[in-house]
Amino acid sequence: MGHMNNRSRAIAILGGTGPEGTGLALRRARAGETVIMGSRDAARAEQTADAIRQRVGASAHVSGMENSAACAATDLLVLTVPFAGQAALLKQLHPAIRPGSVLIDATVPLAQSVGGRLSRTLGVWQGSAAQQAAELVPNGVSVAAAFHNLSAELLNGEEALDCDVIVCSDDANASQITRALTAKIPGVRAIDGGKLENARVLEQITALLIGLNIRHKGHAGIRITGLPPSAYR
Ligand SMILES: NC(=O)c1ccc[n+]([C@@H]2O[C@H](COP(=O)([O-])OP(=O)(O)OC[C@H]3O[C@@H](n4cnc5c(N)ncnc54)[C@H](OP(=O)(O)O)[C@@H]3O)[C@@H](O)[C@H]2O)c1
Repeated sequence: MGHMNNRSRAIAILGGTGPEGTGLALRRARAGETVIMGSRDAARAEQTADAIRQRVGASAHVSGMENSAACAATDLLVLTVPFAGQAALLKQLHPAIRPGSVLIDATVPLAQSVGGRLSRTLGVWQGSAAQQAAELVPNGVSVAAAFHNLSAELLNGEEALDCDVIVCSDDANASQITRALTAKIPGVRAIDGGKLENARVLEQITALLIGLNIRHKGHAGIRITGLPPSAYR
C-alpha cells in the first residue's frame, strides 16, 4: 500500500473493456475513486476509459493502459476476463503484479467460455476459478473472490442495485479491503463469506442466475437474510 491512503489507492480492472469490468469501473468512478482500465490493447483501454469519463463527467479519474502497465501502476487489482483466458493472462502478468497486491477475482468458469452452454459451469481442478487465480499470482499477493453475482447489465445502468456480494478470501485484510470497496456500490451490501474455497459456490450461483435470467427474462441477484446487522457492510 506504500504511501497511498484508501482514497487515492487506484484500482486497476484487468480485462476492464468487457461489460462486467466496465460496469464495476463506472460504479467506482461515480464513487470518486481513481480507476485504471486494463486491456490487452492500450488503445482499447483508453477508449473504454473515455466512454466512462463521458458518462461520469470530466472530474472522473479514469485512465486506460495495457494490463501489465495497469498492474505496475497500483496494488489493487480486479480481474474480469473470460475463464478461458484467465490462467494465461495471470501467467503473462506474473512479473508485473506488485508484491503485496490484492487481486479481486470475478471470473466465472462458464462452459460458454469454451463453447458450451451459458448456464453450465466447468469443473476446475483447483476447486474454483478464484483458487486457480490464487495458484498463479506471485507469492505474497492475496486473492479475494467477489462480484460474481452482480449483473453487468445492472452495473452499467443508472439505478442503485438490489443485491448482496459475498466476499471470500484466505486473507482477512484482502477480504476487508474488498468488502469496503463493494459496499460503496449503491444498493449493494458486502458479506464476509469466509475462505477462498467457498468461491466455488459463488461461481456456481452465477450459472444459476444466468439460467433464471433466461427463464424469466430478468436480471437476477441475491440477498442473504437472517444474519445480524454486523454481518452486512
Ligand atoms: N457479464 C456479467 O454479467 C458477469 C457477471 C459476473 C461475473 N462475470 C464474469 O466476469 C468476467 C468478465 O465478464 P464479461 O462479460 O465482461 O466478459 P467479456 O466481455 O467476454 O471479457 C472481458 C474482457 O476480457 C478480455 N479478454 C477476452 N478474452 C481474453 C483472453 N483470452 N485473455 C485475456 N483477456 C481476454 C477482453 O478485453 P481486451 O480484449 O480489451 O483485452 C474483454 O473485453 C467473466 O469471467 C464473467 O464470467 C460476468
